[in-house]
Amino acid sequence: MKILVTGGAGYIGSHTCVQLIDKGWQPVILDSLVNSKVSVLDRIESITGHRPPFIKGDVRDADLLSKLLSEHSVEAVIHFAGLKAVGESVAQPLRYYDNNVHGSVVLMQAMQKCAVKTLVFSSSATVYGHAFAPPWNEQVPTAPANPYGRSKLMVDQIMGDMAAADAACSMTSLRYFNPVGAHASGLMGEDPQGTPNNLMPYLAQVAVGRLEALQIYGTDYDTPDGTGVRDYIHVTDLAQGHIAALAYAHGQPGHHVFNLGSGQGHSVMDMLKAFGKACGRELPYTLSPRRPGDVAAYWANPQHARNTLGWHAEKSIDDMCQDTWRWQSSNPNGYL
Ligand code: NAD
Ligand code: UFG
Repeated sequence: MKILVTGGAGYIGSHTCVQLIDKGWQPVILDSLVNSKVSVLDRIESITGHRPPFIKGDVRDADLLSKLLSEHSVEAVIHFAGLKAVGESVAQPLRYYDNNVHGSVVLMQAMQKCAVKTLVFSSSATVYGHAFAPPWNEQVPTAPANPYGRSKLMVDQIMGDMAAADAACSMTSLRYFNPVGAHASGLMGEDPQGTPNNLMPYLAQVAVGRLEALQIYGTDYDTPDGTGVRDYIHVTDLAQGHIAALAYAHGQPGHHVFNLGSGQGHSVMDMLKAFGKACGRELPYTLSPRRPGDVAAYWANPQHARNTLGWHAEKSIDDMCQDTWRWQSSNPNGYL
């Protein structure tokens, strides 16, 4: 099967391409490189022995998309391309709606024109309302708290409308919890531009000496150790979830929504300790006030994916930290 992978040069997309190739499927990558580097293709090739076709371009380019879908005889699309920084989305909402929502509409229009019926989309746990006690299943009411989250929910809803309008459409929204980790080879991993916003890349840069100390945002939450609790999922488990979702959804019309998480919550302190163990030294940290907009604790109920896709996350937080450390220590400045 030939699969268009938008955003395939990015963190989750590149790991998914490796697993698509392992499965014998053929990814075709479209990426504008707004948040990634083309050298990731060398890494995909080193790991798999195969270099997928790469097109530098934007998902909002309707003509390019139609051309790609027909010239490559694409049968399904995995749509990772999007902007993902919550704070930036608050400051630049139109940029986020244009890229994430308009980009997805243009993609679906091109798919409709070229009769490509299967779409798997990167949604997020951030679409859920934060007032609900975890674990969260797919029925938790949605109430995203920022433009980024709303852009994800809008696309989910448009996909639902498309599935209702065309009885042959298969639309799958995958709601990721907190993706972390790296490929076990150490050749691919997360490479954020500038100072990382997220816990795991921040820890990795402290460990490698690029940053001084982790700031723990909040130590007075109603959690076992007072720090925030999240559902961390290894990026290769997440990539495997896309393979399972595509295998299930291709030829299975409707709007399918799945949580992809481990089903377990871990605190900031748990992650700090696990990373210290992985890199062989205690990492420096400071205690800071809560970060505005953060919630105390949430994690997934991933039963629907387990029951329907036969998929579940297998890797532990120790695996996540060891793999991140292998990636960061062998690529201290990320991709070149
Ligand atoms: P990433 O930034 O590493 O990858 C996204 C890729 O899309 C990048 O390579 C970027 O260059 C490309 N891109 C962005 N806009 C584009 C456009 N208009 N046209 C073409 N390419 C474009 O991010 P990631 O962590 O791999 O996330 C992938 C997807 O998963 C995103 O849609 C993100 O919102 C979603 N998601 C991520 C997380 C997370 O914590 N990483 C959690 C939930 C959902
Ligand atoms: N944290 C720190 N110090 C840091 C960074 C984070 O203590 O330097 C804490 C946060 O307060 C939180 C936990 O670590 O308790 C995780 O924070 P992240 O920023 O890594 O992740 P979030 O849960 O805030 O958000 C992530 C993505 C969102 C996505 C959401 C749900 O950034 O885009 O998961 O999938 F929507």
